[in-house]
Amino acid sequence: MAVYVITGVSRGIGFEFLHQLSKDPNNTIVGIVRDKSTTLSKVSEDAELKGRSNIHILEADLTSYDALKNAAAETAKITGGAIDYLIGNAGYISHFDAYDPISVLGEKPKELESELTKLINIHVVANIHLYNLFMPLILAGKTKKVIVISSGFADLDLTNKFDLDLSALYAISKSAMNMVTAKFSAEYKKQGVLFLSICPGMVDVGHYKNSTPEQLQSLGGGLVKFADYAPNFKGPDTPEASTQAVKSVWEKASVDNGDGGAFLSHFGNKQWL
Ligand SMILES: NC(=O)c1ccc[n+]([C@@H]2O[C@H](COP(=O)([O-])OP(=O)(O)OC[C@H]3O[C@@H](n4cnc5c(N)ncnc54)[C@H](OP(=O)(O)O)[C@@H]3O)[C@@H](O)[C@H]2O)c1
Repeated sequence: MAVYVITGVSRGIGFEFLHQLSKDPNNTIVGIVRDKSTTLSKVSEDAELKGRSNIHILEADLTSYDALKNAAAETAKITGGAIDYLIGNAGYISHFDAYDPISVLGEKPKELESELTKLINIHVVANIHLYNLFMPLILAGKTKKVIVISSGFADLDLTNKFDLDLSALYAISKSAMNMVTAKFSAEYKKQGVLFLSICPGMVDVGHYKNSTPEQLQSLGGGLVKFADYAPNFKGPDTPEASTQAVKSVWEKASVDNGDGGAFLSHFGNKQWL
């Protein structure tokens, strides 16, 4: 039995976390979304989720400090002032930087600035506020785990070894987010709080279904590099397989095992695919 707060449950990996974690009726899941009524409709139309009274949906855009503060106060009312897990899953996958290296992105300086600012605001600034605002609830809980969903693109060694030049702005923001998580770990480890960044692998949630043939060709170049990196890689995971793997990593990880502030894959190591 555990109490989870998870951001970005409206779709994708977050919606699958909602499925997996609410299966146990003894768990309580508080999902934070930008559009509460749309998510409530989606939950009420889902054959498995519609009867689950352990799901609570709250509304907050992560980039609004006040909205997050309200969400923390609402969560405290639902859970009695304590939570076990805070899962920072919400993220922004930029299409601006997905198909071209950083020099090409630089040819559109205004768009580059606006996309990088958006990515930093969501992945870095918003998660700092999220962690701070929910910390009293985590400290009052039993399990004391704060997990952020990161990306292998943020790994320096992988980038350098395979010259991964796509998704530069996304990677920059996720690697800064990993450092945020490590800094919180440095502060809160002594109080028994585990902070951990976990990459979910490559997961098919339909991000590139509207890509043009040229864009897909560019992505294909990246996939060739992935094949070099992980010859057994057969393509993206389902959200179900990925969330189960990520959950198993956060369940095994602990401050006592030396995992505080670490950045791990869904395999629990540095193998990203
Ligand atoms: N899919 C992959 O292969 C993959 C690989 C590595 C890492 N990840 C990471 O996994 C996490 C989930 O990604 P996904 O693939 O499931 O992406 P997704 O389908 O695009 O879902 C993103 C989620 O984040 C929410 N979100 C975005 N901006 C927000 C904001 N300002 N405030 C509140 N919520 C916001 C979205 O809500 P709305 O519905 O309101 O937009 C949505 O629920 C992300 O952190 C992503 O970077 C994914």
